Amino acid sequence: MQIRKSGSEALFACALAAVGLALAFLPVPAAHAEFGDVVINNHSDKAGMRPVVFPHWFHRIRFSCKACHADLGFQFKAGGNDINMVKIIDGQFCGACHNGELAWAIENCNLCHSAPPGTPTQVHESTLQKLGK
Ligand code: HEC
Ligand code: HEC
Ligand code: HEC
Repeated sequence: MQIRKSGSEALFACALAAVGLALAFLPVPAAHAEFGDVVINNHSDKAGMRPVVFPHWFHRIRFSCKACHADLGFQFKAGGNDINMVKIIDGQFCGACHNGELAWAIENCNLCHSAPPGTPTQVHESTLQKLGK
């Protein structure tokens, strides 16, 4: 028990150090990311865009889980959906709502692409992250 605990704490400390290092080289202040936000970066960095911050709680209090995770087919996994702009413009994933009708449209690039460059796909401050998994 004790060994496992210190092991994960060491991993967490490493993760913190890595984040600190990354932040030290950032020319801009870190974008806002709240507890439970999902950062999606399967393609963004490679495409020269800031990674996407998906504010989960903001959406969760407005829509049922089913609306997104069943009807729109979002997998329950950070980065678990192969999302790209063609699909979004086609009305899939974020594009089912961010179409200028239900929610603001996709020309607001930096409202979604708001994470500091290099931020990996993750659930911000998740329990899993703290356990070093
Ligand atoms: C409603 C949210 C949202 C908005 C607005 C948005 N994007 Fe994206 N975009 C995403 C998501 C989610 C992904 C997938 C992120 C990943 O996996 O890295 C993505 C991926 C991308 C990618 C990489 C994949 C691909 O399609 O080539 C590019 C480039 C991109 N966006 C450019 C843009 C530009 C330019 C704009 C503004 C005209 C924009 N995005 C607006 C959510 C958005
Ligand atoms: C507006 C759409 C939307 C709603 C509503 C929504 N989710 Fe999600 N959820 C997402 C997206 C998008 C992701 C990230 C998927 C990705 O990165 O490709 C996600 C990821 C997740 C994950 C994996 C990441 C994590 O935080 O552990 C879980 C679990 C999850 N959702 C549960 C729920 C539950 C439970 C509800 C209802 C209380 C809910 N979601 C409501 C869109 C939604
Ligand atoms: C089920 C509908 C729905 C889906 C799917 C959805 N959104 Fe939203 N989103 C909304 C609505 C509605 C708002 C509030 C719009 C407003 O304030 O005018 C919003 C607001 C936001 C905001 C601003 C939050 C704030 O603090 O003001 C961001 C960022 C965002 N969405 C990103 C995304 C991304 C990225 C995806 C896909 C991974 C996505 N959304 C998918 C409906 C959705």
